Amino acid sequence: MSHDVILDAENVVKHFGGGDWLSRTPVVQAVDGVSLQVRRGETYAIVGESGCGKSTLARVLMGLLAPTAGHVRFDGRAVGAASGADLQVLRQDMQFIFQDPFSSLNPRMSVGKLVGEPLEVHAPELSAQQRRDRVADLLRKVGLRAEYAGRYPHEFSGGQRQRIGIARALASGPKLIIGDEPVSALDVSVQAQVINLLGDLSRDMGLTLVIIAHDLGVIRHMSDRVAVMYLGQIVESGPTEDVYANPRHPYTRALLGSIPTMGGKPDGQRSTVLGDMPSPTAPPSGCRFHTRCPHAQAKCKTAPPNLKEAGTPDHQAACHFWDTLASAPPIAPTPPKTEAAAARFALYRAAVEGGTVTHKTNQSTERK
Ligand SMILES: Nc1ncnc2c1ncn2[C@@H]1O[C@H](COP(=O)(O)OP(=O)(O)OP(=O)(O)O)[C@@H](O)[C@H]1O
Ligand SMILES: [Mg+2]
Repeated sequence: MSHDVILDAENVVKHFGGGDWLSRTPVVQAVDGVSLQVRRGETYAIVGESGCGKSTLARVLMGLLAPTAGHVRFDGRAVGAASGADLQVLRQDMQFIFQDPFSSLNPRMSVGKLVGEPLEVHAPELSAQQRRDRVADLLRKVGLRAEYAGRYPHEFSGGQRQRIGIARALASGPKLIIGDEPVSALDVSVQAQVINLLGDLSRDMGLTLVIIAHDLGVIRHMSDRVAVMYLGQIVESGPTEDVYANPRHPYTRALLGSIPTMGGKPDGQRSTVLGDMPSPTAPPSGCRFHTRCPHAQAKCKTAPPNLKEAGTPDHQAACHFWDTLASAPPIAPTPPKTEAAAARFALYRAAVEGGTVTHKTNQSTERK
């Protein structure tokens, strides 16, 4: 089956450091051979632990960082090679939403100026009044009042500031938005609203979204497909519901197991991740996950597994033994490590069950 691919990454590698022989530093293998295809109009999630290379990959996808090797194509154009007018079109079509809405908004600019600035660049033909009208429209679209245009970022709550960041990203009329942990700095109840808003916008405006998260719980309700990253590589990808229902890679199972169940029954398929992630300056040989994998065998220490179809069409896993894992002894999920984590999860569940988090079906967006 062929799909309309809007963002296509082929074998992307991004290494940092090294230097010449005098100033030699260890090479950080932040991204190491990632291929992915994002389809037009879908919400594609990239998840993984801190330091696995998600932000680096996002920056390469956006053309903000040059890859060490590999290629990225956006809407048929090579991202790395864009310059001049091509680069301007690329900047217009692909926008970024940052994790921390406070530090990403210039505190000395009014909301009207922040949201209107991209219009000055991408729609210079607009008169000042037309620009003000467009800003008012954009603010309303993200659930803010048009009269907020005269205020400054510090006068808003975190959720409102993220809405301003989204309005700014929408101003150039992009085809694709990449959100690097766009809700992780927000309170859980506000997270649900911002997730809902992004879902509504993607559906109503035909936007493609790439959402980066370290929390599988956050993306389940908003993404169509998900890629799980471990130490610079994709270890599993597929339709989100299928990956949640039938996780094939032990790492995905471990990540799912680390979503606290809060009184729910332990799921026999889930397991825990053992120990810390190895350094990306010296990734393990063979399968990079073998040092933490409860199912590792001799082959895993020497032979790197390829990402290949696992069980159902469109579902891929990079594990030599994914098809024998179903019979592996179950390991109970870990309880939430802290009270704060437990409370956060309880709020998230309440938001899901209360209907403020929905998956692309709810027209109404609760506002804050
Ligand atoms: N400019 C840089 N120079 C050297 N190393 C870097 C640079 N940027 C990132 N790294 C390293 O690359 C690895 C991947 O970093 P990255 O920020 O992409 O991870 P991440 O998955 O986004 O993590 P987090 O969830 O904490 O945001 C890390 O080990 C990081 O220290
Ligand atoms: Mg990051």
